[in-house]
Order: sequence, then C-alpha cells, then structure tokens
Amino acid sequence: MFPQGFLWGAASSSYQIEGAANEDGRGPSVWDTFCREPGKVVRGHHGDIACDHYHRMREDVALMKTLGMKAYRFSVAWPRIQPTGEGSANEKGLAFYERLVDALLEAGIEPWLTLFHWDMPQALQDKGGWLNPQSSKWFEDYTKLVVDRLSDRVTHWMTINEPQVFIGLGHGSGTHAPGLKLSFKEQLIAGHNVLLSHGRAVRAIRQHAKKPPKIGWAPVGSCSYPTSETPEAISAARDATFALHGKHLWSNTWWGDPVNFGHYPEDGVKSFGDDMCVVAPGDMEIIKQPLDFYGLNIYSGEPHGSGHAQGNAQTAFKWAVAPESLYWCPRFIHDRYKLPIVITENGMAGLDWPSADGKIHDPQRIDFTRSYLLQFARAAAEGFGAGYFHWSILDNFEWAEGYQMRFGMVHVDYATLKRTPKDSAYWYREVIATNGAHLSSTAVFNGEDQRQAEHASATPVRPMITVPKTRATANGVPT
Ligand code: GCO
Repeated sequence: MFPQGFLWGAASSSYQIEGAANEDGRGPSVWDTFCREPGKVVRGHHGDIACDHYHRMREDVALMKTLGMKAYRFSVAWPRIQPTGEGSANEKGLAFYERLVDALLEAGIEPWLTLFHWDMPQALQDKGGWLNPQSSKWFEDYTKLVVDRLSDRVTHWMTINEPQVFIGLGHGSGTHAPGLKLSFKEQLIAGHNVLLSHGRAVRAIRQHAKKPPKIGWAPVGSCSYPTSETPEAISAARDATFALHGKHLWSNTWWGDPVNFGHYPEDGVKSFGDDMCVVAPGDMEIIKQPLDFYGLNIYSGEPHGSGHAQGNAQTAFKWAVAPESLYWCPRFIHDRYKLPIVITENGMAGLDWPSADGKIHDPQRIDFTRSYLLQFARAAAEGFGAGYFHWSILDNFEWAEGYQMRFGMVHVDYATLKRTPKDSAYWYREVIATNGAHLSSTAVFNGEDQRQAEHASATPVRPMITVPKTRATANGVPT
C-alpha cells in the first residue's frame, strides 16, 4: 500500500533534546530566557540538559539504526552556530552537526535538516527579534553558514517549523517564548518577516548548496475533514480547511499562499482590515520560491459540520484523535499547492511509564499511529504522500508543558537519562521493515508477540543502552 521508496523516519528539535545549553560556545536562545521566568513553563522545567542528546548523539543514532529508521528530521540550534545571532560561525557548533550528519549517513539514515525550530538567539530578540526589519537578513546569513558547511552531505532542507505556533503563541498569547503579547498588527509584521526569512533561506540554499537540494518547510496543517465522501461534503470541508476569518494566525493559507502563490489570501487581507501589514515591492518575489515538497505537522483535525462526539478519543494533551486528518489535510494542501506532501510531524502525547516488567507499554501510541498511517497510506497510494516522520524519536522537552508530556517512541528517564524503546518503537520498526504491510495486523498490540519473536531470533534486537548515573540533575525544579 506504500510505494517503494516511501520515506519512514522520526523527528526531533534542538532545544527539546540537546541540552548542553552552555557548552562549546552556544549562546542563550529565547527559550533559555523564557524557561527562567517564573510560572511560564510547568514546574520551572528547562532545556539545560533535556535528553542530553548533545553528549549522547552517537548512542541515539545507533538506537535509530537499530529501530530501522530511514530518515531523521532534526533542527540546528541557531545560537550554537551564531551565539549572538550575527557574525562568523562558532566552529564547535558547526562541528557538532557535522558529527551528527556523518553518524547518520554512516548508519544509512538520511538527514533531514530544519534550520529553525523556535530557538532564536536571545541577542537578536533583544534587537526586536522577528519585528526587526533586519531579521530575514540575519536568517539568510545564518542559513549560509549552515549550508556552506553541511550541503556536501545534507540534501533535504526545511526552513522554518510552525510559524503559526511561534508567532501565535510566542508573540500573541505569550504562552511560548519569547512570551510577547503583541497587537495583532504587530504579529502580522513579525509573520511577514518570518515569510521573508523563509524565502531568503530557500534562495540561499539553492545558490550555495554543493549538492542539488530538496527544500520544503514544516508548517502546522489544520484540517476539517468530511464525514461522508460526497462532492458537496468534500468541498465544504475543503473550504473550512482554507477559510480565514477572525484575527488569528492558526491558518494554512495565510502562510502557505504567499510561499506558493506570492500573495496573501484575500479573505484574510479583508478580515484583518487595518491590521494588515505593509507588503513592500519585491517582498513577494522573495517569499515565493520554488519548493520540492510541502511538509505538514498534523496531530489532530475536526469532522466538518458535526464536531467531535461526546467522549471522543483524546491524547494526554486532550487533542482529539482524528486519523482522517492525515489523509484529508495532505490531499487538500496537495490539490492547492501541487507539491508532494511529507508529514514532518505526527504523534501523540502519552503519560507512559516503565511497567513492573521494566518495559514501556504504550498500546495507545501504537493504535494512534496505526490508524493515522492507514489514512496516509491512501495519500501515498494516490501518489502525493511521500514520507512520514513520527514525532518524536525520544521523549523530550514539550515547551510550556515541560517534561510532563511524553511524545517519544523511546522513553527517557530524566534522572538517569537512560533510553528505553517503548513497545511502539518495536512496532514501528516492523512497519518500516515491511514498508507498511505490518499495519494490516492488529495482533501485536502489547509488544509481547514481538518480544517473543525477538527472543527466538538469533539477532539481539533490543538495544541495551545503559547510561551511568552522571548528569543526574533534574531538568528544572524537582518536585
Ligand atoms: C510543535 C513542534 C514540536 C512539538 C510537537 C508536539 O508542533 O509544536 O513542532 O516541537 O513538540 O508538535 O506538540
């Protein structure tokens, strides 16, 4: 059901897993600052250590290899490359990503590199951050440094992760870093600078890459899906998925139309009225650059017209389980922008813990992923679904929710930093190994069959990664 060459992977981001916040010349990011503000992040958690991936990168890559990953989506921390966001590169920062890329390639895992996953250097924030008209120039300079060093090995690039979220929550509601509550007008200005940054980065990658690049980005895809497949129901759901009304930036088209069509959607411009930002001559030519794929981060969706039923399935975050969104949102976006769709994130927050048998049983994550992937199988069979990255490879720092939400297929004990693959990781390995055929089996839901099979097999498959009890300081204020 998945074509040959379909890409199977998992994703992460720098601030959420790396730790080593003050090492090798890394400068502070807006998230380092925000986490220190009382009451902003659950229990004062922060990313100083996180999963300590910076020091355990090799073990983590070995783990991905054991789990059969074909690709790994990670992000580069801008303040590791430019501690103040400007000027020449910090050699040690570049060297870390070079080691990571080399380790991945050696393990047969394709690196998919995101340039920006929210950790803007604090020094740039102090100069106005995304509101500064220079911000897209800063981003272009940073992009060049990364491209110069890594583009002989990295071919898959994503510019920016979820502008909807870091502008909407970081600059609107103030619940994410940098914690600003700007007027809607100012949010639109910041958003416009983000779009310019995307365009300048795409241009810089194409101009400077040493190997022919494949470029996309990773916005959130929000979705209304039809509850029946009549042409009327489909078209009503499509309209709802694309409609822009009310002053908020949780939108597919506000971000996607400029990038693909070179203009903002008319309904948005109309409803934003006087808040609309100035679009200078030439801006849209910068923003609209040819892309090779369209990334979508999709976690949930809404049945059009009816809403979710009472008592519907939800994840620990209380996000509705809505597998249909993994077919319909990609389809609507593909019909509009004509690009292959890569799911750059999909997964669920759980509250998994080690059971008495020492294993991590996460049947809900298996069920969630299975049902979403079966929907995306249809997109793949219809020719526009090109790849899938599970969020996330490891449990990690979930922004304002700190470490209490667990999104990983691999459990992280934050006291010892020990990694333990959950049942879902073994299950996903089978899905990858069979190019999706394993999805048709509902049998292996508690991981037990799998483990018995492993026991019987000659190859030791469960990676034993034991981590000494060093660096055991908690990520934040212990409770
Ligand atoms: C996002 C980010 C990720 C999150 C994940 C779960 O979508 O918010 O890209 O960093 O951790 O989506 O919320």
